[in-house]
Amino acid sequence: MDWHFLDDILGGVNLPLVMIGADELIFAANPAAKAILETSQIGRHHAIALRQPALLAAIEVALRDRVAGQARYVIHGPSHEVAYLVTVTPVSGTDKSGVLCAFQDTTEQELIGQLRRDFVANVSHELRTPLTALAGFIETLKEAARDDPAARDRFLTIMQRETGRMSRLVQDLLSLSKVEAEERRRPTTAVNVVAVIQSAVAALHPVADAAGVVLEIYGADIAQPVPADADQLLQVFQNLIENAIKYGASGKLVRVDIHPPSNEMLLQIDVVDHGEGIEEQHLQRLTERFYRVDTHRSREKGGTGLGLAIVKHIVNRHRGHLTISSELGKGSCFTVLLPRN
Ligand SMILES: Nc1ncnc2c1ncn2[C@@H]1O[C@H](COP(=O)(O)OP(=O)(O)OP(=O)(O)O)[C@@H](O)[C@H]1O
Ligand SMILES: [Mg+2]
Repeated sequence: MDWHFLDDILGGVNLPLVMIGADELIFAANPAAKAILETSQIGRHHAIALRQPALLAAIEVALRDRVAGQARYVIHGPSHEVAYLVTVTPVSGTDKSGVLCAFQDTTEQELIGQLRRDFVANVSHELRTPLTALAGFIETLKEAARDDPAARDRFLTIMQRETGRMSRLVQDLLSLSKVEAEERRRPTTAVNVVAVIQSAVAALHPVADAAGVVLEIYGADIAQPVPADADQLLQVFQNLIENAIKYGASGKLVRVDIHPPSNEMLLQIDVVDHGEGIEEQHLQRLTERFYRVDTHRSREKGGTGLGLAIVKHIVNRHRGHLTISSELGKGSCFTVLLPRN
């Protein structure tokens, strides 16, 4: 066997590959395999080098019965684990036979699968709650409350709220998927961000008034055109200001501060409330879909838990950043940083 030839072939494959001989010793491994196995394991018994029972069983079957197989193999790194699907294939030549193990990194695929399952479970759960309520009220209206106008009115009001919530949820899901689909396409139209913020504030003034909150803009003289999607940016500021009013009402004042660029490239907008604030442990996860600090309360206020997920995707599409800082009892500050070009 021409060893250099074999080494060159294995080295040319961008996938960790390990070859084990009929004597059960590792006789070749490419650089990608050496990187994940940390040291060169050549000459060692495969069971010492690879250790995990599922993979060892597949190798044993391949060596003994000449049957191919697959096994999951997990490497625990310092910060996270990496999962591989290892394909074990019997190989034989004139002077040597054994098995070839090819390691395919499936970490991301597994993560995406998990996210999708969680997402479907969340959506179903969010829809099931109002649907169950509606079914219950329809039942009551048909029977017990049939001739009770006062009860009927009350139930219809609740039903209206629940259907409103469902259609908001569907709308938010649609906007999320639209933003996600466009995320790689950076907007190019020059947009006056200040005007966008002003219209978000104008739209939310009635909501602020109803909650007893004063809504103010500072720095509106900074007329900075930014390459942006005006509708999406409007959604960003509406979501952030709406949250500030909803969750920060006790502070009585919500400010939108528009800063001149600190780092020459950026426009910075802070949405600040003086409400109850958010505990540190939640900050990281707020932009996850359906993540809410107090699910019950958010639902009561008609929230879907998708607002900040949408904000984050839109800001990403604009190659900007969203940062959140908050102090319990003092209030929160949601900062949007937008690149000028
Ligand atoms: N300004 C804020 N002060 C305190 N908590 C906040 C603030 N903004 C957001 N949160 C918390 O973050 C959670 C997620 O916010 P998000 O906007 O994504 O969802 P939501 O407001 O519950 O629903 P939606 O925006 O769909 O109506 C909220 O449920 C709330 O717990
Ligand atoms: Mg919200």
